[in-house]
Amino acid sequence: MRTLVTGAAGFIGSHLCQALARAGHEVLAVDSFTDYYDVARKRANAHACAQSGVHVIEADLRAPEVLALLAETDTVFHLAAQPGVRSSWAAFPTYQRVNVEVTHALLEAARALPVAPRVVLASSSSVYGEAADTATELATALRPRSPYGVSKLGMEQLAAVYADAGLPIVVLRYFTVYGPRQRPDMAVARFVEAMLSGDPVPVLGSGEQQRSLTYVDDVVDATVRAATAPHAPGATVNVAGSESISVNALVSLLGELLECGARVQHLPPAPGDVELVTGSSAAAARLLGWAPSVRLVDGLARQVEWQRELARVGT
Ligand code: NAD
Ligand code: UGA
Repeated sequence: MRTLVTGAAGFIGSHLCQALARAGHEVLAVDSFTDYYDVARKRANAHACAQSGVHVIEADLRAPEVLALLAETDTVFHLAAQPGVRSSWAAFPTYQRVNVEVTHALLEAARALPVAPRVVLASSSSVYGEAADTATELATALRPRSPYGVSKLGMEQLAAVYADAGLPIVVLRYFTVYGPRQRPDMAVARFVEAMLSGDPVPVLGSGEQQRSLTYVDDVVDATVRAATAPHAPGATVNVAGSESISVNALVSLLGELLECGARVQHLPPAPGDVELVTGSSAAAARLLGWAPSVRLVDGLARQVEWQRELARVGT
């Protein structure tokens, strides 16, 4: 495949670029290195991609020269976004601009081509709100509880309009992704960092909220499959790990892996935080032939190792 990956210097995008390059695909990669978190992390991710043979371009996705690259590709993996549930309240204009308007620029440029590339879009379990435990994705009511979720739902609805207009689009709803390079605002990264520094572990709310944590290599596998699966265009598919865990149980498990007794600091619940986010991946099995394969304890051990190394050498 000749591919374009957006958000290539980010957590998931950098793993995707490297997996595509390892599989022998041509990879053009774009990222604007936003400062949502430490840009040095993104530079390190981009450097790893470049070493794997990925051509990384630093630019905003809306730049005409970047959109022109679509004509040279047969598959676009669109992961560029403004992520993060908890910071999306006051910053909604940024979420709207990046997640909806930037996606619009991409879809419109693709629509204008004589032969449109397949577009694989990274969406989020946050479009569901509290309803993510139902078995069939498409039948589930969508009622996001955060402005971030609204922006991802807006992106999906825009994609549906472009799909009706003929673009071959696959929407993947990722469920809380973890593994090496995880964004530093996310729970596992914050918990491990606190434990390694001997600081209290910040638990928001009761800690009884549940997540289907999904290992990044499994997410990449589903994403690559979505590029070629014959019946995937037009579909919206959950990509969810098979093991659901509460935040409190996650803290205990990480304490065991790090062999430290974690001290917990209980903080107020975050507005918009969903209690139960566990998803069925039945459609991903049917349409993509995908199932998660990395056990939670193994995936967490890999992230712990990566964070130990990060703490040792810096970014
Ligand atoms: P990330 O922030 O690490 O990566 C996103 C990248 O997009 C960043 O490097 C950023 O610089 C880049 N970017 C933002 N605006 C851009 C623009 N205008 N032009 C070019 N690049 C731009 O986030 P991530 O956790 O890797 O998430 C990747 C995708 O997966 C996002 O679409 C996110 O919404 C989605 N997602 C992530 C998770 C998760 O648990 N991490 C779960 C569900 C969905
Ligand atoms: C994550 C990503 O941040 C979103 O980008 C993504 O779209 C979303 O998953 C998704 O699945 O769609 P979230 O589930 O909030 O969002 O993931 P974490 O940031 O890892 O938080 C998981 C849980 O841990 C939440 O209940 C949160 O309140 C809790 N948490 C987080 C803490 O208790 N303490 C922290 O310091 C951070």
